[in-house]
Amino acid sequence: MGTATAIAHPNIALIKYWGKRDETLMLPAAGSLSMTLDSVATRTTVSVGGDSDVFQLNGELSTGRAADKVFKFLDLVRQLAGSDDRATVLSHNDAPTAAGLASSASGFAALATAAAAAYGLNLSTAELSRLARRGSGSAARSLIDRFAVWHAGDDDQTSFAEEIDAPDMRMIICEINAGPKAVSSRDGMRHTRDTSPFYPAWAPATEKALAEMLAACAAQDFTKIGELTEAHAMQMHALALSAVPPLRYLAPTSFAAFDRIAELRATGIETYGTADAGPNVVAIARPKDAAAVAAALSEFGATHIAAPGPGAYLEGAA
Ligand code: PMV
Repeated sequence: MGTATAIAHPNIALIKYWGKRDETLMLPAAGSLSMTLDSVATRTTVSVGGDSDVFQLNGELSTGRAADKVFKFLDLVRQLAGSDDRATVLSHNDAPTAAGLASSASGFAALATAAAAAYGLNLSTAELSRLARRGSGSAARSLIDRFAVWHAGDDDQTSFAEEIDAPDMRMIICEINAGPKAVSSRDGMRHTRDTSPFYPAWAPATEKALAEMLAACAAQDFTKIGELTEAHAMQMHALALSAVPPLRYLAPTSFAAFDRIAELRATGIETYGTADAGPNVVAIARPKDAAAVAAALSEFGATHIAAPGPGAYLEGAA
């Protein structure tokens, strides 16, 4: 029992996760595929000891829903470790929290890695991925270097992420609005599952897109990867829009950015767009085109370029 610090980066999905088969075990309706970023990070220190659990985010004491999620997660770690000890969690996040930039992914990947070590557990990457999944589904993928496939799996044991090979690429993140989103992914997924007439089509369509994406990655086919990425992002947003009442995450500026991405393609700069549960747009491009894409999107919001990055790691042990 002791103290451990871990670093994790967000990941952005090329094949999206939207909807759970099992909310307790956090088993997704379908598999997904992502790139872990080398930019923005969450750094989390877990120290075992004290009278009660404490969670501080960016220097401020956290209470309510965010803190409850962290304490519930610590309960899972304690169960695995056979411990009743409380812990203090100090976390610092470079990215705006809950703005659709996957802060929950880096947050729970860092927490799983640091808490497991602080409670004396020696877990494999797949086991840490399974553990992180229980905090936030997409966190399962932030354990993985570069590119990850998260298998939907059949149960807790088989639903984890692992590394796949894919061509080198860059993500150009365009921050259209850094404020917190109106409806969290968790609530949005549940609402979509409960009300959308199209939800039954989602899981089979996603598994099909995932199989095609895995083949495109193996073939190093950037064009196919891009086409599948943009189509699947639009399908996820169309699904959210089909909920009753609708969930509209994209803003008019997001669509303007997607139009610009299409214009760039027409002029020979091959780039494709995606967006998570918020208005920010993420373009993918070959490394040589990334600066031109970032410049073209900068009128819609602050842009930064991310390369494939490392999965979560213990500080000093990377
Ligand atoms: O794991 P969550 O609850 O942060 O949900 C992530 C959902 C999306 O970001 C919209 C899609 C994805 O696969 O990352």
